[in-house]
Amino acid sequence: MEDSRRRIGILTSGGDCPGLNAVIRGVVKTAHYLGYEVFGFLNGFEGLADPVHYVSLNFQNTAGILVRGGTILGSTNKGRFGATCGESDRLRIDPKLLAEVKTNLQDLSIDGLVCIGGDGSLAIAQQLHEYGIPVVGVPKTIDNDLLCTAYSFGFDSAVACATDALDRLHTTAASHNRVMVLEVMGRHAGWIALYAGIAGGGDVILIPEIDWTFENVCAKITHRRNMGKHFTLIVVAEGAKLPGGRLVMQEVGQGNQQARLGGLGDIVAAEVKARMQVDSRCVVLGHLQRGGGPTAFDRVLATQFGAHAVRLVEEGRFGEMVYNDPPDIRSISIEQAIARLSTVDPGGSTVIAAKALGISFGDYPGYTNPFANSQVKAAAAAEQYNAGVEFVQNQNMQTD
Ligand code: F6P
Repeated sequence: MEDSRRRIGILTSGGDCPGLNAVIRGVVKTAHYLGYEVFGFLNGFEGLADPVHYVSLNFQNTAGILVRGGTILGSTNKGRFGATCGESDRLRIDPKLLAEVKTNLQDLSIDGLVCIGGDGSLAIAQQLHEYGIPVVGVPKTIDNDLLCTAYSFGFDSAVACATDALDRLHTTAASHNRVMVLEVMGRHAGWIALYAGIAGGGDVILIPEIDWTFENVCAKITHRRNMGKHFTLIVVAEGAKLPGGRLVMQEVGQGNQQARLGGLGDIVAAEVKARMQVDSRCVVLGHLQRGGGPTAFDRVLATQFGAHAVRLVEEGRFGEMVYNDPPDIRSISIEQAIARLSTVDPGGSTVIAAKALGISFGDYPGYTNPFANSQVKAAAAAEQYNAGVEFVQNQNMQTD
């Protein structure tokens, strides 16, 4: 007898990220009220291929997961389905594997498969879609580097974690008159460094999108010293390139594995120490940024994504991905969403505001006010910046 139940499949793929469970819960609840049964496939796309691994998800076994970090379904960024090998290179998935997945989903009577992932995972979802498998996408990444969506869930949580780290480094840096370097994640985008750097009162922010030099970083430290501030907080994005353009890696990418970035923070701390005879230390925040529960913002966003992903299945809008266009949730083709990464605009309002405040991106030795609407005003602003030095020294003021 034919199985007439309506079913939605769901999987979480790639690196984990706070809010994955909130999406799962959003899908399960919304699907339930529309009369769908939900199957959760285990360990990303791996669960779709032989031997198929899935669990039936319901109100009972998803209770309480809204606030939980990680993913109850497991995830992997390794295995048979890799579709990304470099910054933007795409690999093709073996057609035999795609055929296997299609048959398995048909056998389970899955009407639509919700794929939650970053750009690499969505590139896999796109190939499933092109093969005639009914998928919809949900953007996930702490890096916030997916096109179209203003925010991906997980980003706010990662920024909160990095900001907390900076708050803690601030007091110890000030106590010891040290330069503290915080290396944060973000792969080839500087969003986490930029937002945490601003939120945590960073003095220097180094991101992949802006070329910088050690001389300019040291000039900022000197300027602060002249103002009577003997400590400096430097936020380094793991994907920022060294002057000259080299990426610092822990492991080079191989096959369908992306390169593992990291190590720039240590280099910056050592170079600053050597050049300025100042005590400097580096902290690599690493996977702490991905662990733990989601912030309230990420819970709301993830819940909305879950609900709207079910709407896409219900409306038969396969091959589309939900995204955040504040205050709305919209959808766009996955193909368009993964066309390229979303990176920080060096001329965008966030960078400009940071520069106006005197935060250095290592691209200039001194201060250039981005809001000055004439050369004369820009020169006056720079003079004012330097005059601030004397003012602070004369007043013997202690500032942050
Ligand atoms: O894409 C998310 C991310 O956390 C990046 O910021 C980081 O470069 C990478 O994943 C780390 O991956 P892994 O968990 O494989 O070390």
